[in-house]
Amino acid sequence: MRRCGERGRQAVLVGFMGAGKSSVGKVLAQHLGAEFVDVDERIEEAAGRRIGDIFVSCGEAAFREMEREAILDAVSAPGRVVAAGGGAFVDEANRRALKAYAPVFFLDVSVESVLERLSGDRSRPLFPGGKEAGKLRELMERRRPSYQEADFTVSTDNRSVPEIADHILSLLARRSAPRREGGRA
Ligand code: S3P
Repeated sequence: MRRCGERGRQAVLVGFMGAGKSSVGKVLAQHLGAEFVDVDERIEEAAGRRIGDIFVSCGEAAFREMEREAILDAVSAPGRVVAAGGGAFVDEANRRALKAYAPVFFLDVSVESVLERLSGDRSRPLFPGGKEAGKLRELMERRRPSYQEADFTVSTDNRSVPEIADHILSLLARRSAPRREGGRA
């Protein structure tokens, strides 16, 4: 019966900066006829400033508080595809709220792809810059155990946004089917 309800149109995307959560989320939401909620955008709207400014003026701890609030707000209505910022799923309360809302997809990405995709991007305060692959790898590995608490892991390297969205759609369909097989992708 879940297939007919709102929950069949819900999904959560998590993963490292540059994994493609927002791009994939938009396409996925379109296919599902769901509302797309980008948690970072919601934070910027609520604060009236860019994430970079929030980090500089208020600090990371204040940003994480705003993020927790924005996540609770994101999961407060049915029929949404929610893309959470790269650090959100590390927080246990966020993990609980997101997992209770919908199947969670961890978009996995290599350090090399992150560097390629984000080089020249100055909007992410925790992106150490193209020359510091070691720091990036370290942050990614520190976060991996949290990301792995997602319901599904989806590799994004060498896959286009529509391909990733299609793959998630097929996993969602399998999950809502009456007789499903569990597992990871
Ligand atoms: C962050 C990732 C960013 C944003 C903020 C902090 C992180 O989101 O939430 O800059 O801690 O990894 P994206 O993953 O969408 O870049």
